Amino acid sequence: MRKRILSGMRPSGKLHLGHYLGVLVNWKKLQEEGDAFYFVADWHALTTEYERTSVIGESIDDMVIDWLASGIDPSKATLFIQSHVPQHAELHLLLSMITPLPWLERNPTYKEQLREQTSRDLHTYGFLGYPVLQAADILMYYALLVPVGIDQVPHLELSREIARRFNFLYKEVFAIPQAYLTETPKFMGTDNRKMSKTYGNAILLSDTAEEVWTRVKPMVTDPARVRRNDPGNPEICNVFAYHKIVSDEETIQKVDVGCRTAGIGCIECKKWMYDHMEKVLAPIRERRKQIVESGVPVRQILAEGTARARKTAEKKMKEVREAIGI
Ligand code: TRP
Ligand code: SF4
Repeated sequence: MRKRILSGMRPSGKLHLGHYLGVLVNWKKLQEEGDAFYFVADWHALTTEYERTSVIGESIDDMVIDWLASGIDPSKATLFIQSHVPQHAELHLLLSMITPLPWLERNPTYKEQLREQTSRDLHTYGFLGYPVLQAADILMYYALLVPVGIDQVPHLELSREIARRFNFLYKEVFAIPQAYLTETPKFMGTDNRKMSKTYGNAILLSDTAEEVWTRVKPMVTDPARVRRNDPGNPEICNVFAYHKIVSDEETIQKVDVGCRTAGIGCIECKKWMYDHMEKVLAPIRERRKQIVESGVPVRQILAEGTARARKTAEKKMKEVREAIGI
């Protein structure tokens, strides 16, 4: 059997550069190296969006088009919708029987979300069980590698613990999965807060070249650089953080020195960064345009993938039911 890869994303509409460099780059790489399953985590979206469910369905196409534009290839990876593979719900239920409550209650992501998401009531059974559902997604496919963003590492750790507990209680049915991260540090928004569409600080994969420049141009730089000949400190400048992600070594060096010696101006510096960013974005934008114009049948691709995923999932569920003895 080829090495299994699995990952999912909640449908939240159009994706940004952080999604691409933090996660999709690895999805693309790993679809060449193993048997990859990538899915739309609509039930996970429901744990927070249960009061406005229409956004979930509406977001799916935009998100999957961005996957395809980023180079995710449905002839290499199986793309599917979580809720269309009901086996995930069954496995979630069975895993919930053996998951100790304290494992969920002490989860740092859970505690943080309860604190931060004050606009919605997240004191639900489903939201507490979010990582159990995620464990079901992963363990179902015997995934060894799970390409995700660094924020998902605590969830992956829980999946591993749940797998070990199941294997110990019943039978060695599950592989112990591992998170697979990119080298890209976390991409902050253009205003230095977390990159998010709701803050209006995101560089979207679907933005035009002009829109990208409109976001880059007003980025806050080192406040010490009031005039062109004031030297600056690139380490505290978000533009430099972006350079380190998108630019080549030579440019990064040139900016580092140029900034400290007031040899370059901030607009010039931003322009260089923008040019490098465009090297990443332009091909994605071009593919996105082709996909939309030629009417690639996204829902059909997902339906085909879902049929394949269901078969794989049902095979695993037979083993699971047998191991538990029900
Ligand atoms: N929790 C993930 C996120 O918010 C989405 C997700 C759900 C996932 N199930 C998964 C990721 C399984 C990897 C594997 O991004
Ligand atoms: Fe930031 Fe570049 Fe200006 Fe330095 S020159 S403060 S790194 S934008």
